[in-house]
Amino acid sequence: IADEAFLRALPKAELHLHLEGSLEPELMFELAQRNDIELPFANVDAVREAYDFHNLQSFLDIYYRCADVLRTEQDFYDLTWAYMQQCQRQGVVHTEPFFDPQTHTDRGIAFATVLNGITRALADAEQQMGISSELIMCFLRHLSEEAAFETLEAAELYLDKITAVGLDSSELGHPPLKFERVFTRARELGLKTVAHAGEEGPAQFIHDAIDGLKVERVDHGVRCTDDDDLIQQLIDTQMPLTVCPLSNTRLKVYQHMSEHPILTLLERGVRVTVNSDDPAFFGGDVMQNYLALAEHLNMTRRQAAWLAHHSLTSSFAAEKQDSWLQ
Ligand code: HPA
Ligand code: ZN
Repeated sequence: IADEAFLRALPKAELHLHLEGSLEPELMFELAQRNDIELPFANVDAVREAYDFHNLQSFLDIYYRCADVLRTEQDFYDLTWAYMQQCQRQGVVHTEPFFDPQTHTDRGIAFATVLNGITRALADAEQQMGISSELIMCFLRHLSEEAAFETLEAAELYLDKITAVGLDSSELGHPPLKFERVFTRARELGLKTVAHAGEEGPAQFIHDAIDGLKVERVDHGVRCTDDDDLIQQLIDTQMPLTVCPLSNTRLKVYQHMSEHPILTLLERGVRVTVNSDDPAFFGGDVMQNYLALAEHLNMTRRQAAWLAHHSLTSSFAAEKQDSWLQ
């Protein structure tokens, strides 16, 4: 069974991380004070108590409220910098974080404020810590296709800073194909594509993300276990899945970690990776996700090394001519 020292030393990439979901309660209080905002929580302990979720939506309701403390470019810088420091402590050598511009532009915050704060921190982290990154802009799927098109248009000024687009927020009722035309336009602009699919939604959404949105990775994708032909297709095409074990148990996709299918999928030959999703809300960073697999699923060193290998080779950096991975 893989132990902590082995897991920490293993070079890893994180491919499923929402920057807004890395906002630790301590920083949230600091930003609330700095921006003179009243939080609905008395203290850090009350926050952690409130993070008791029963499904994706119950999490999202709190998550979007917490993001309200993010106002200035410096706030987005501090958020991103804190996450990159967390990466450094865990042996994460490369990361491809998501951000949700609509969560902020809908509150009157300029797209440039969000993007500049994030990208400045990513550049500083690369220079000072040697951690590389590729940024992914997500569309909120509970909002309209038109709103997604407006967001993509805002991003056109910054295509050198954004590698891919993704799709997140409430999956049930908002199928991937709602955004087929937006994703087509994004690919025309030279952007890569990923999408959350098969977290709470059906295996069909994974098919639709692959065939309709032409994604290069599926985020979550664990509901593929309902469709044997789909599993075979994922194996044959080596489509990466960015799996988030602690997120899945905290949002009750699985009642207990011992039921999680990630290692079964790995052993069958599916290209699964381990990620934290929203570490500040789900009680664990990437390392804690690996540790949970060791503790509850008896993950071996060999399995851990494969998972970490998948994370590096499934990254967008792996395709780059000048990448350190070549
Ligand atoms: N699913 C959908 N939307 C999200 C998630 C997630 O796990 N985390 C942050 N936004
Ligand atoms: Zn996610």
